[in-house]
Amino acid sequence: MAELILALDLPNKEQALSLIDSLGGKLSWCKVGMELFTGSGPDLIAELKKRQLSVFLDLKFHDIPHTVGRAVAQAARIGADLVTVHCQGGARMLQEACAVKERPRIFGVTVLTSMAQGEIPGVSANPNDFALDLATLAATAGLDGIVCSVQEVAAIKKRHPNLRVLCPGIRPTWAEKKGTADDQRRTATPQKAVALGADFLVVGRPVLCADNPREALEKILDEMASS
Ligand code: C5P
Repeated sequence: MAELILALDLPNKEQALSLIDSLGGKLSWCKVGMELFTGSGPDLIAELKKRQLSVFLDLKFHDIPHTVGRAVAQAARIGADLVTVHCQGGARMLQEACAVKERPRIFGVTVLTSMAQGEIPGVSANPNDFALDLATLAATAGLDGIVCSVQEVAAIKKRHPNLRVLCPGIRPTWAEKKGTADDQRRTATPQKAVALGADFLVVGRPVLCADNPREALEKILDEMASS
């Protein structure tokens, strides 16, 4: 069964916790990204864990292998259950991240869902093929999973059945009608993501920008269950 991860793309801890507390306990995973972590730091993660949530710390590490390994160790220390690294950091960086003892799950970002063909600097391949190549790099380095768009899930799962796959760029049809397609380019509905084999769906604006976030979350969970 696929899991939904709510992206807490909000400016501060108070707003993030008040949103979580308004959702009626339907959620088991949330995502803390750059905006919230930069402003609120590790204390917020402790608060989320007190609410029995698993925490995906989405900082997309991309640096020299030594630095990334040490950052992953710190993510483990502050309680992150899942972290991301950029596959484009290369094999040695991915291996060093995986070598950390008692580490969280590590997923490699392949090609950002905001990027379309022609937008990846220095890469002429289409994003779907490039994502598959980067997933192979991730699997070889020993990562637990990868991040890709729904467009790539089936091919990646076929080639790497043991890799878990996490998909952002999720847009329910009703959210698209409200004009939230925004910066994301390689998008799909929750049903399609689940049907094609995604293990985790990351959803931000379709819930955060809804008039009633709790209702929006429940609708997405229902769509996932009915897929
Ligand atoms: O608001 P929206 O549903 O587009 O949020 C998607 C979330 O997933 C954002 O927090 C974004 O940082 C994250 N993400 C992404 N594409 C990736 C990796 C993470 O959109 N490849």
